[in-house]
Amino acid sequence: MTAPQIVHTAYLEPATRTELRALLDEAFDGEFSDEDWSHTLGGLHALIRAADGRIIGHGAVIQRRLLHGGRALRTGYLEGVAVRAGHRGQGHGAALLAALEDIVHRAYDLGALSSSDDAHAFYAARGWQRWRGPTSVLTAEGPARTADDDGGVYVLPVGAPAGPPLDLGGALSCDWRDGDVW
Ligand SMILES: CC(C)(COP(=O)(O)OP(=O)(O)OC[C@H]1O[C@@H](n2cnc3c(N)ncnc32)[C@H](O)[C@@H]1OP(=O)(O)O)[C@@H](O)C(=O)NCCC(=O)NCCS
Repeated sequence: MTAPQIVHTAYLEPATRTELRALLDEAFDGEFSDEDWSHTLGGLHALIRAADGRIIGHGAVIQRRLLHGGRALRTGYLEGVAVRAGHRGQGHGAALLAALEDIVHRAYDLGALSSSDDAHAFYAARGWQRWRGPTSVLTAEGPARTADDDGGVYVLPVGAPAGPPLDLGGALSCDWRDGDVW
């Protein structure tokens, strides 16, 4: 299988952005919000195209800070992972993840993502670990619990800097953003 194309948001042609947004709207059954789209921009995109050039798979990795154990971990956070219906089950998702995980390994202290209800097993099978502890977000007023997100966050430890190992049962906080914070 051909390796996904890797391109920074800065170099996505306007037509490609439009095509990508349509793919994500379709793949997430109309549940992909403007905030979700915004969260997907600003980092590196992995793209898979069909022979006719149409995009059939996408995933992005953006930078966030996650707080855990007194450390602010530079985190490669996955967003907008989707394969077009009709092209699933053919290894495209795995190819996208392999490319995104490689970026995480090369550039970040930690990988993380919030899984859709259907994709937990997909990520777990690749070595992503479910965060078992309480999650929260850092708001301007201080930390706020995100109990609804507990159990839905996955991390990919890639050798965080010196310090205690990750405690998957401990507290994990993310930086603030509009829309879904995880
Ligand atoms: C999740 C998704 C990206 C997987 O893409 P895909 O191209 O079908 O995945 P692959 O064909 O590469 O599958 C890789 C492996 O994961 C498994 N897998 C794929 N989707 C799975 C799922 N939803 N649950 C459990 N296992 C899954 C496959 O069986 C395969 O296993 P194998 O290696 O043992 O054969 C795709 O189903 C999708 O776009 N879903 C809708 C959007 C979504 O939920 N995205 C995730 C956002 S967090």
